[in-house]
Amino acid sequence: MDRARLAKLADAFAALTGQPPAGIWSAPGRVNLIGEHTDYNDGFVLPLALPARTAAAAAVRADGRLTVRSLQWPGELADVAVADLRPGHPGGWAGYVAGVVWALRASGHQLGGLDIVIDGAVPAGSGLSSSAALECATALAVSALGGIHQPLADLARVARQAENDFVGVPCGVMDQMAAMLSRAGHVMFLDTRTGQTEHIPFDLARSGLELLVIDTRVHHDLADSGYAERFSNCAAAARLLGVRALRDVPAAGLPGALARLAAEPVLARRVRHVVTENARVLDTIDLLRAGQPARIGPILRASHASLRDDFEVSAPELDTAVAAAVAGGALGARMTGGGFGGSAIALTPAAASGSAAAAVVAAADRAGHPVPTIGAVLASAGARCDSATSWR
Ligand code: GLA
Repeated sequence: MDRARLAKLADAFAALTGQPPAGIWSAPGRVNLIGEHTDYNDGFVLPLALPARTAAAAAVRADGRLTVRSLQWPGELADVAVADLRPGHPGGWAGYVAGVVWALRASGHQLGGLDIVIDGAVPAGSGLSSSAALECATALAVSALGGIHQPLADLARVARQAENDFVGVPCGVMDQMAAMLSRAGHVMFLDTRTGQTEHIPFDLARSGLELLVIDTRVHHDLADSGYAERFSNCAAAARLLGVRALRDVPAAGLPGALARLAAEPVLARRVRHVVTENARVLDTIDLLRAGQPARIGPILRASHASLRDDFEVSAPELDTAVAAAVAGGALGARMTGGGFGGSAIALTPAAASGSAAAAVVAAADRAGHPVPTIGAVLASAGARCDSATSWR
């Protein structure tokens, strides 16, 4: 976030709360390069942070109350005694902030009153994890002001707990880990079982490539229930196969697993997606480590087909965008995030990004879909404290 925007947030904080902020902390949105619907199966993911960030200005207050405001929702104020926080209260967007305070207290940290004002630049409802950005910016702010010294990965888990248990939305840990730990110029390989991360260089410009993010501007109502259903599909399949999580089915064991699930064709398709997707993450990493990002195009396309046909979480708007991007010159494209609308990514030679974007817009128009928002992104930095010199 640029200096002017941070300074404006600091001014707004002072005007709204009557005291200057003690600090400003921010966290980015994310896209996932590959490894979709694998994180709640103990599998592999490969996200990168977006340039768009959400900032939280904060200061302690003496009366034990938590106040939460957002520059995007002027006039809305959540004001609650910290001791009275409980899942679902407050609700709405402020719940993502309050949930982090609640989750930190639930894990044994003493926290008193706080004023928090949010400025979010990650578009909401686009599948770009604006909620994780909000949670992670808040987690950094609250832990800094509360004197809580925890590794960023632990704070990411606290942020996920806020989303699962306070807001009541199921998710894996990918988005929060990406928002917390990503590095500029890198994708982050995360093994969600061990929590181990590896930052792999992702300098597309050097390879003459661009990564487009295509926001379909569509969010199907099915998203939450569909996600929860996939979550339980996978747990049921793991139980039937006698493994702790689908991560434990190796690629070589897939034919045997599918044979055992012959009477459960839906579960078999879910398993095939998760097992092949984990393998695709590893194949992608091999190519990136070898400095050959242009060769991951076919893997991205295979991932999309698997999400569409086996995991059944795509949507017509995403399928149209992905097909058009490839027809327009992209090396590969796929939906990214939970699906049922939201965003897709396309990897294109820099010289073809204009034609790919134009093809996506034309195809949406022909199909009667909303006109997507399209932009090239660079892998950006994870959560941080925005030093006072950048906004005072
Ligand atoms: C959402 C969830 C993540 C992950 C993706 C699918 O973004 O928040 O935890 O499960 O969907 O890969």
